[in-house]
Amino acid sequence: AQPAPQGTHRGEGGETHQVAQEGYLTLTTQQGTPVADDQNTLTQGRRGPALMEDFHFREKMFHFDHERIPERVVHARGYGAHGYFETLTPIPELTKADLFQRAGEKTPAFVRFSTVAGNKGSFDLARDVRGFAVKLYTQEGNWDLVGNNIPVFFIQDAIKFPDIIHSVKQEPDKAFPQAQSAHDNFWDFISLTPESMHMIMWVMSDRAIPRSFRFMEGFGVHTFRLVNAEGRSRFVKFHWKPKLGLQSVVWNEAVKINGADPDFHRRDLWNAIKAGDFPEWELCLQTFDEDFAESFDFDILDPTKLIPEELVPAVAVGRLVLDRMPENFFAETEQVAFMTHNIVPGIEFSNDPLLQGRNFSYLDTQLKRLGGPNFTHLPINAPKCPVHHFQQDGHMAFHNPRGRANYEPNSWGPKIGGPREDPQRGFSTLPEPADGPKVRARPESFADHYSQARQFYVSQTPVEQRHIGDALVFELSKCEVPAIRLRMLAHLQNIDDGLARTVADGLGEADLPPAADAAAEPRTDLPP
Ligand code: HEM
Repeated sequence: AQPAPQGTHRGEGGETHQVAQEGYLTLTTQQGTPVADDQNTLTQGRRGPALMEDFHFREKMFHFDHERIPERVVHARGYGAHGYFETLTPIPELTKADLFQRAGEKTPAFVRFSTVAGNKGSFDLARDVRGFAVKLYTQEGNWDLVGNNIPVFFIQDAIKFPDIIHSVKQEPDKAFPQAQSAHDNFWDFISLTPESMHMIMWVMSDRAIPRSFRFMEGFGVHTFRLVNAEGRSRFVKFHWKPKLGLQSVVWNEAVKINGADPDFHRRDLWNAIKAGDFPEWELCLQTFDEDFAESFDFDILDPTKLIPEELVPAVAVGRLVLDRMPENFFAETEQVAFMTHNIVPGIEFSNDPLLQGRNFSYLDTQLKRLGGPNFTHLPINAPKCPVHHFQQDGHMAFHNPRGRANYEPNSWGPKIGGPREDPQRGFSTLPEPADGPKVRARPESFADHYSQARQFYVSQTPVEQRHIGDALVFELSKCEVPAIRLRMLAHLQNIDDGLARTVADGLGEADLPPAADAAAEPRTDLPP
């Protein structure tokens, strides 16, 4: 970074002089032309009109006018840090992924934490899901584990994502609320989407108002696959467990903190890392095979379900340490582009329909947000392993193929002809069989929306259960349409009678509506 030249003073005639000071670099334009005067626009006479030939003014203002890029369509408010992943237990029997082969090996990492619904300038302690996106710069390419601090999700199929996000963000006519789920549109959508009930229990719990990023878990959410060198595959769920344990604030604290210090979580991470108090998470894996997967009474491809750790323990294989803050927020935290489809040999997708849809969405959105196809050339997104390919040109191309060859196969030999494919080391997709008619239909195995919601609620301590009840009362009391509140009470009865009664009392509803029919399509008509 170039410090601005200091020590300007006005001459006797009112003109500005730059006083050269030892130790300072000379200010230049982007073209490298030294700047003599950064305080005054070029004018025709001291009091006359500005001149179009003032290239320094034009360049400076042009660049300023274009400083903003679109904020992320979701997870706009985020904060990141650098660090590393250290493999503690190699797992070659599970995966050939290079980063898991050698104990003690460190893989550079960048992590971005975020809220989902609020705009970029919103506050940190909104009641919301937190993003927990990890980019691991492995020797066989970048692996992005784009997770959340909650192990399940609201919807089962990616086609509903635009709807849930539209519903939770500011209403299109009012342009509020900016960062709160407490409004009619959100609860209207949720009450019509019974598959969201498990996630709703988590979002109404203390998990959604974490004390800091350092006290949060992270989850890959979807079932993925690990594949070893023999081509044997097991299903896997990824979990980040914080060394500091889990801590949350209570809602009244969250409300006060948001007013007093909207940057509470940012400040906490900055201060901790600058003080050398590096946050750390264990990477734990739950792995299981196809037969075991069949034994569950839910579908492991359903992202609204978790695999209970009593049935499949989460085994630690490594640790993630964050030890360095970005030097520039925009260059690193804003421009980082996570994509679920960034995987490496030894890690593969499952057929979870939400994951499949995400694999389309992230690349698409980066093109829009980062303005072209060359965002992998930005230092924060560039792999830290060798990269050789024939992709070229486009906006802002920093690295084009060198020399004659920009296609393959070619006849020009290894010196000139460039890279070749490698069937041994290259990514080869697991030949998972797939058959059946093309359909638009949810699998029947995705039908149970209440059992895990109930299990989560009853697993909470009485204090935590009270917080869930209080949160639901607070949130639903902001709904102006009574039918939405009633629909939610009908769902809550399928989760826990006591919870439904508590919320009804808090809302001043004397009578509970009949429990929601778990098998029926939700009603979209609102009573007058
Ligand atoms: C960010 C789409 C579900 C975690 C984003 C972004 C999009 C998106 C478009 C903005 C990316 C950017 O501009 O850089 C979707 C779609 C989903 C979905 C279509 C479902 C169909 C999920 C789920 C999780 C998740 C289930 C968690 C497991 C994240 C995170 C970010 C993000 C952590 C922020 C990444 C960052 O910090 O830059 N998502 N998302 N999303 N999403 Fe999703």
